[in-house]
Amino acid sequence: MLAEKMVHASLGQSYPGKAAVTFIWVGIPYRMEWRYGLAAHKVIALDAGHVCQNLYLACETIKSGTCAIAAYDQEELDELLGIDGEDEFSIYLAPVGKLKSKT
Ligand SMILES: Cc1cc2nc3c(=O)[nH]c(=O)nc-3n(C[C@H](O)[C@H](O)[C@H](O)COP(=O)(O)O)c2cc1C
Repeated sequence: MLAEKMVHASLGQSYPGKAAVTFIWVGIPYRMEWRYGLAAHKVIALDAGHVCQNLYLACETIKSGTCAIAAYDQEELDELLGIDGEDEFSIYLAPVGKLKSKT
């Protein structure tokens, strides 16, 4: 079951198995490297952080919550996504769901 696989790939963190939706960002380094060289890797990480921060803000407007996740099993998640883990690999994920404390 997908939910169980998501929890396992997230090292036992339960929320990716319960969320209404989980965003998973992947990087394809070549798309940055051809222009930015070694600095590409810094920019990829910055981009992922910015887009996830915007997800936090968007969640607030719909009375939902998210939690950035960077602790996961790299190979397991990449395999689950069907990406090769070399030219394309997961870098960040964020489950989104309604908060019980908010109405
Ligand atoms: C880069 C990054 C990685 C994170 N990885 C995880 C994670 O794997 N598991 C988790 O529960 N929270 C993770 N978090 C969320 C933090 O634990 C924390 O909840 C979040 O930064 C909000 O913190 P605050 O509530 O103290 O403002 C991560 C946050 C960031 C910025």
